[in-house]
Amino acid sequence: MRKYLTLVNKDNEIKSSYLKNIKLITLKNIYNEEILIEEETATAYKNLKSYLKKKEIEIGIESAYRSIEDQQKIKEEMIEEYGSEYAEKVVAKPKQSEHHTGLAIDICIKESGKYITDNNEVMKHLEKYNAILPYLADFGFILRYPKGKEAITKYPYEPWHLRYVGKIPAKIMTEKNWTLEEYLTKFSAILYVNKPKDMTSFDVVDEISNIYGIKKVGHTGTLDPLAEGVLIVTLGGATKVAELLTAEDKEYVAGVLLGIETDTLDITGKVTKHKPVDLTKDIEKVVNSYQKIYLQEVPIYSAIKVNGKKLYEYARNNEKVELPKKEVTIKRINLLSSDNDTFMIKALVTKGCYIRSLIRDIGLSLDTYATMTTLIRTKQGKIDINETNTLEEIKMGKAKLHTIDEVLDYPVIKVDKELEKRIRNGQKLPNQYHIKDKVIFKASEELLGIYKVEKDLLRVWKNF
Ligand code: DAL
Ligand code: ZN
Repeated sequence: MRKYLTLVNKDNEIKSSYLKNIKLITLKNIYNEEILIEEETATAYKNLKSYLKKKEIEIGIESAYRSIEDQQKIKEEMIEEYGSEYAEKVVAKPKQSEHHTGLAIDICIKESGKYITDNNEVMKHLEKYNAILPYLADFGFILRYPKGKEAITKYPYEPWHLRYVGKIPAKIMTEKNWTLEEYLTKFSAILYVNKPKDMTSFDVVDEISNIYGIKKVGHTGTLDPLAEGVLIVTLGGATKVAELLTAEDKEYVAGVLLGIETDTLDITGKVTKHKPVDLTKDIEKVVNSYQKIYLQEVPIYSAIKVNGKKLYEYARNNEKVELPKKEVTIKRINLLSSDNDTFMIKALVTKGCYIRSLIRDIGLSLDTYATMTTLIRTKQGKIDINETNTLEEIKMGKAKLHTIDEVLDYPVIKVDKELEKRIRNGQKLPNQYHIKDKVIFKASEELLGIYKVEKDLLRVWKNF
């Protein structure tokens, strides 16, 4: 859930509504006092503790959830003991401490039978703290204030302060050596999802947004609940190229039932028309004749707008509306099988083509009505259904995360520091590379931007 990625730092104070969405439970700290901690964080901590015990490392918690008053008290105690300059540096201001989330824990490690609690002692036993680092992500934790990232976290290195973010984000942050701040701004990925039936595309996007803890998630072409198959989902920075993926050709396999038409043009709708089926008709010939460019009437159950209102709203209100026609291209279509009044087709179509409408039209050409019974998107652009991951695989962290330059078929140019600066500033560049459409610029592994040819120059199209 996205709550595990809540960012609290010097620039982001805890929201007063935060505690409504989490459950705090009690746990004993190293002093045998009861402390509060977020529920899932507590389970993850207990699992980490027993795992480390097998490796002969004993950890305990010194501090977990803190109220705003608790933080105030800690700050005052630190000022008293070490002076205000030091306290300001190491202790967060009330409302700015991660400990308010219940997801942060300060751990202590046992050394010669005693927990190390003094910060100076900790620094003398860093090998002990470093020894647990390789295991943290497997339990959903990150080291929140690591060495070398002080400019980003704005706190000195704290070997004891762990933060629960969930296993999948923790694994990515660890692999990329990112702090939470970096993950939330830099994470960018494209997922090839195999959408199951009976879920809306929005449900899939929402679930993925929760799994990765990323707010900016989009898909590149709606599949109705009835439909399954390739749904390309963009996360973080990759949402900037969603429109390119939406524009790609799509291949579908669809089932058809002849003799009826429904209001939604698919089997989930209400039957509106009947007509007997002439079984002597040559279905294959009619299907093949649809390999063409033609004007297709868009379905009433679609989000296309007429006079500022979506067509399905007209349908819901029982209002009359003239359905617009759009030019569509069926690049390839063939009959896969047929059995009496049912058959299956496979079609490769351009953006904007509705398979339900294509099926309705094929039905009319067969002198009857037709309704779509099943729909599988087998391809979008070059992405095949065989390359997709199920939601279960995604939840288990087994999904392949694709990068923008891998998914888009544009040339990739790695630039030097000088050019990197100009690209980061969004400057126009001469087209010395003889680019025809678009080009991806990278600085070593980091994506800088996508540029587009305009006259004889390259102009920024998207900056990352
Ligand atoms: N020591 C950390 C930054 C806190 O006070 O939350
Ligand atoms: Zn802490």
